[in-house]
Amino acid sequence: LGKNLVFVPECHSTNTLALQLCQNSGPAEGTLVITPNQTAGRGQRGNGWEAEPGKNFTFSLILKPATLALKDQFYLNIFTSLALRDYLAAKGCTAVRVKWPNDIYVGSKKICGILVESQISGNKFSHVVVGIGLNVNQQKFGTETATSLSILTGMQFDLQAELESLLKFLEARYLQLREGKMALLMEDYLKVLYGLNTPLSFEVEGVLAEGMIVGVDESGRLRVLMEGRERVFGVKEVGYGVV
Ligand code: BTN
Repeated sequence: LGKNLVFVPECHSTNTLALQLCQNSGPAEGTLVITPNQTAGRGQRGNGWEAEPGKNFTFSLILKPATLALKDQFYLNIFTSLALRDYLAAKGCTAVRVKWPNDIYVGSKKICGILVESQISGNKFSHVVVGIGLNVNQQKFGTETATSLSILTGMQFDLQAELESLLKFLEARYLQLREGKMALLMEDYLKVLYGLNTPLSFEVEGVLAEGMIVGVDESGRLRVLMEGRERVFGVKEVGYGVV
């Protein structure tokens, strides 16, 4: 991954740029679209993603997972989350947790957001864009709930060296996906999933309800035990906080 590099000094969103590149013939699998200055980063649920220029990672990987069945789409979120977890653990961050579907937290603060967007043609993925925003050297955030590697470790990081390292972790987990090791990926994902088998407060259609996450179903929906019965939720259908 990352052997082909599209570097732009500035852009609105590397995901948008990567999706545009895929329209024209399509770059090679593993192409990395990266900028030090993303001015209109996009997040999940229509949110934005802000990052101070030159201090963090904002990039998108273009993948062509030819053998991945459409029903296994959520494994794209899983492999990416696990690679970020592996990388952060290697940097000495303990207590890395994944808030479903794929927000990466250290303790109760978010360090990384992931936005997976795919284009399907027929019954196959024609290409997938995996966007990663990882806070590395940024010290101050507009929100209390964000953090960075440098805040956590007290160190400054060389982004070039870190990129190489992070790409290796992404590649290792992507290979597991390519090799069809879905059970292993799911098992590892559940091990780091925030709130699994723990009582939590959820917001469902504006109403608060107590429940407990019991897993993630085939298509990536969250399985929650509420008042004695299991319910499943899509990304926009349920909210909960990380404490
Ligand atoms: C989220 O937390 O909601 C996901 C944030 C994803 C941000 C990354 S930064 C690189 C890539 N380009 C984008 O526009 N978004 C993703």
